[in-house]
Amino acid sequence: MKDKIKIKELVRQYYYERFGNQHFRPGVDWVPVSGKAFGPEELEALVECALDFWLTAGPYAKQFEEKLANILKVPRVCLTNSGSSANLLCISALCSNAMGDKKLKPGDEVITSAVGFPTTLNPILQNGLTAVLVDIELGTYNPRPEAIEEAITEKTRAVILAHTLGNPFDAQAIRALCDKHGLFLIEDACDALGAKFNGRPVGSWGDLASFSFYPAHHITTGEGGAVACSSVQWARIIESLRDWGRHCWCEPGHDNTCGRRYNWKFPGLPEGYDHKYVYSEVGYNLKMTDLQAAIGLVQLERLDSFAAIRQRNFKALHELFSKYEDWFILPCNVKGAEPSWFGYPVTIKPNAPFARIELLKYLEEKRIGTRLIFGGNLTRQPAYQGHPLVRVVGPLTASDIVLNSSFWLGVCQAIDGVKLRYMLESIMDWLEEY
Ligand SMILES: Cc1ncc(COP(=O)(O)O)c(C=O)c1O
Repeated sequence: MKDKIKIKELVRQYYYERFGNQHFRPGVDWVPVSGKAFGPEELEALVECALDFWLTAGPYAKQFEEKLANILKVPRVCLTNSGSSANLLCISALCSNAMGDKKLKPGDEVITSAVGFPTTLNPILQNGLTAVLVDIELGTYNPRPEAIEEAITEKTRAVILAHTLGNPFDAQAIRALCDKHGLFLIEDACDALGAKFNGRPVGSWGDLASFSFYPAHHITTGEGGAVACSSVQWARIIESLRDWGRHCWCEPGHDNTCGRRYNWKFPGLPEGYDHKYVYSEVGYNLKMTDLQAAIGLVQLERLDSFAAIRQRNFKALHELFSKYEDWFILPCNVKGAEPSWFGYPVTIKPNAPFARIELLKYLEEKRIGTRLIFGGNLTRQPAYQGHPLVRVVGPLTASDIVLNSSFWLGVCQAIDGVKLRYMLESIMDWLEEY
């Protein structure tokens, strides 16, 4: 154990030598659009976990799940290896055998946004369901509840929506709509950890909700994600699908948690067939490792301080862009939404004296990162053109504007005061030219 203390001291020392005191060189170093921020504690936790050499999901994963469930105010959280996996599990859960006569089947419709990240949409198609895409509202970049309601048919069974760039959709109205029509609601909260609606965390409004911990996100575990479950029953389905589809719920490295490992009886299987090898779902293996969870636990401690940096950076960019409202549609939120911004999104208006591509190239030259609002109007992307399971409701006018004229700047915790000032000055230089 003495060696462990020594190793941790060395790791801390190494952190400061390798990552401490990094001096920002404007125009040379990138102002990242997103990126990880970490201290010696993350490295220490990672090494400590490595020394235990548990590797698969274990004690750190359990703590991480409990801590996140507390923050989100949900009964259970299941860790996954990515946000995309979390979305896949959410939609697959709706198609699970355990859903009985509520199980979704081919031909059933799931409503989602036409604008966004592909892996919000993909699990609908991967499960053989029909994706019904609706337009968004410029500024919030989320669909209005009215757009969702108009898309509901007798085949509609669920709604999956992202809180775009950390900006909550109208969770109260959309939850009420889903309840009224007997639909499942899945929140893709991958980009929105820490955001709230009417004081209640996003991720706690849906039947299920997904989170991503890829380095671009509010906290990171490298690759990683989670499903927030509104009940223990949902968590059982998610865990089974995540863990090969097995019926057994033993944690990795444990046996006979149910106390009747050799006493189960399943139709078609020999009496007492080892519960560990009984498969009640068509599952995957989408688990997180303990090494990732060890990092995540430390990152969770930083969530509030990261959110404060994001708010500060967002506010500074907002003050700047507010002076140029003639040229830009600025980000806004619906009443009740408390965003935890992932980025600063703007849409260039038709009367602006420059094109998006010119501004993006200028910012690239200045080494200031930018991103588009993911795939824009996803129906224009090669993967979905003419896809037999994609149906569009109404004209996707705003989605096309996003495709052609929107982009976002970074507000992440890796952008300190010096980088922020450089970003603001560079943008101002460009805008004042006109
Ligand atoms: C809205 C949304 N959903 C899902 C994902 C997928 O998360 P991951 O990269 O962890 O698979 C992302 C990725 O950033 C995202 O923005």
